Amino acid sequence: MCGIVGYIGHRKAYPIVINGLKRLEYRGYDSAGVAIANGSMNVIKKQGKVIELENEAKNHNTHGTICIGHTRWATHGEPSDRNSHPHASNSGKIVLIHNGIIENYDTIKAELIGRGYVFHSDTDTEVLVNLIEDIKIKNDISIGRAVQLALTQIIGAYAIAVYDTDRKEELVVAKLGSPLAIGIGENFSEYFIGSDASPFIEYTKNAIYLEDGEMAVIKPNEEIKVRKIQDGTITESYIQELELNLEQIEKGGYDHFMIKEIHEQPEAVADTLRGKVNLKDSKISISGIRDNIERFKNANRIIIVGCGTSWHAGLVAEYLFEDLARIPVEVEYGSEFRYRNPIITEKDIVIAISQSGETADTLAAIKMAKEKGAFVYGVCNVVGSTIARETDAGTYTHAGPEIGVASTKAFTTQITVLAMMAIKLGQENGALSKSRVKELLKDLQEIPKKIEETLKSEEAIKEIAKVYKDSPNFLYLGRGYNFPSALEGALKLKEISYIHAEGYPAAEMKHGPIALIDEKMPVVVIATKKGYYEKILSNVQELKARKGKIIAVVNKGDTAIRAIADHCIEMPQVAEELSTIISTIPLQLLSYHIAIMRGCNVDQPRNLAKSVTVE
Ligand code: F6R
Repeated sequence: MCGIVGYIGHRKAYPIVINGLKRLEYRGYDSAGVAIANGSMNVIKKQGKVIELENEAKNHNTHGTICIGHTRWATHGEPSDRNSHPHASNSGKIVLIHNGIIENYDTIKAELIGRGYVFHSDTDTEVLVNLIEDIKIKNDISIGRAVQLALTQIIGAYAIAVYDTDRKEELVVAKLGSPLAIGIGENFSEYFIGSDASPFIEYTKNAIYLEDGEMAVIKPNEEIKVRKIQDGTITESYIQELELNLEQIEKGGYDHFMIKEIHEQPEAVADTLRGKVNLKDSKISISGIRDNIERFKNANRIIIVGCGTSWHAGLVAEYLFEDLARIPVEVEYGSEFRYRNPIITEKDIVIAISQSGETADTLAAIKMAKEKGAFVYGVCNVVGSTIARETDAGTYTHAGPEIGVASTKAFTTQITVLAMMAIKLGQENGALSKSRVKELLKDLQEIPKKIEETLKSEEAIKEIAKVYKDSPNFLYLGRGYNFPSALEGALKLKEISYIHAEGYPAAEMKHGPIALIDEKMPVVVIATKKGYYEKILSNVQELKARKGKIIAVVNKGDTAIRAIADHCIEMPQVAEELSTIISTIPLQLLSYHIAIMRGCNVDQPRNLAKSVTVE
């Protein structure tokens, strides 16, 4: 789970790579490094963020038109200078950057040590670069061929870029299980490499996404040929036109990506809905469902897999699909599902939810489901991501790039897609009346406006954040569609402010968590009019009787909860089925402002990375 960047062509390579690394820091920021070819290889690496590397590089020669760079999220070996990439082979001639994990590195390392190789880091990557060197020398072959042969011995996942000083004008890249995009300059005059396309978006809109098991030897002024690692045959790779623009991936005037992304939600949800909802004819057009409608109609059940926030979106989908389409649903953590020998039949539909489309546990779960014959549908944000490609069909959320590590707009757009799917299926199988479909579609169209309205509570939320920023614990309660909001609110607070927080179904409180309540415990309660209001009111009274501090998310005009709660955050009324999208917004803002007031790095919280490509 790291970011890799590379450049080969006629421009000064280092500035391109260092800027690219900054854009990929969301993938990990334990250390960063570059290798610049200028006669020999100049390797500069540093523990910490890319800025530390940039400062260090000021003391070095960074001239050269070929450079590879890496930003690391540690797996094998602690974060340190010596474990940073690029890693060089024993001769110093070959350098390599790697995103992924080499599972059989131990046995290969032992063999290489037996042949006299010496290791200077604790990484699996250094084993691979030396294996490549060993094969190259033993067989007296080119670097491209040596990489190919070495990779056939590797078990694990990788996206790699390799440079050999014996082949001054080429870079070798390969992929299995980790993403790798190749940007193509005009007339093939230059090439860019990235874990995604963001490092090179201002230079080219043309890119090839390598598929698993593919590699290429890249030379400027020569058309790229992608080959299968297994047998070297040329594959038919196609050049995609990228839709991303630079402005989309910068902070746009906000202090942090997270707050920018929270405020982007009206537009993001509007983009998700765009072209899919036709109010006049009460129609929803989702091509992935339209093309597979019989499968959906005949499905025994839907199994939803995801991790973290995407799993929370799955919980909302369980309510939506059962409520609106009357299809039985199970929601599974990718990591549990893949290891517990689940019963899956050909009449099951597995829906994988993932912002990044790269989450290893979710990916493994869908691979297993496919092997057992299930039809797999993806709900992903990143276009061309591995999960998007591995699934049989799917729908993109179109939230735009989400850079802040804490997921915000990805969540609300995921629920938007899932709500459209549930309404469509309810319409198709007759579970929903015409008038209900019409109402729901109208409510869906109004969601962007209602998010905008909710965002106006930000100043009031900041005041609440000031009062509770030093609390060591928080409890979040909700019922029905707002139970997943409670889980999501607690997760947001934990991950960016490091405050311990738990989400619970409000009624479960009396079965244990109520013992925690005293005058020091802030309890965030989602108490909207349509979601079991009377029941929630009783829960709030029980909390108040034990002196808990109540922060209630209520609908505009509420009086009963307002009379007992310590603080109220207002949100507009919305159909119960869609209320999670709105009730999540104040909780995102609350966790953001608390974290900022505590001096936390909200975009890059400790120990986390944006895309979890390891088990
Ligand atoms: C929380 C968060 C994570 C992700 C999880 C799955 O804010 O971002 O919990 O939701 O790692 O990631 P994706 O959706 O990329 O599969």
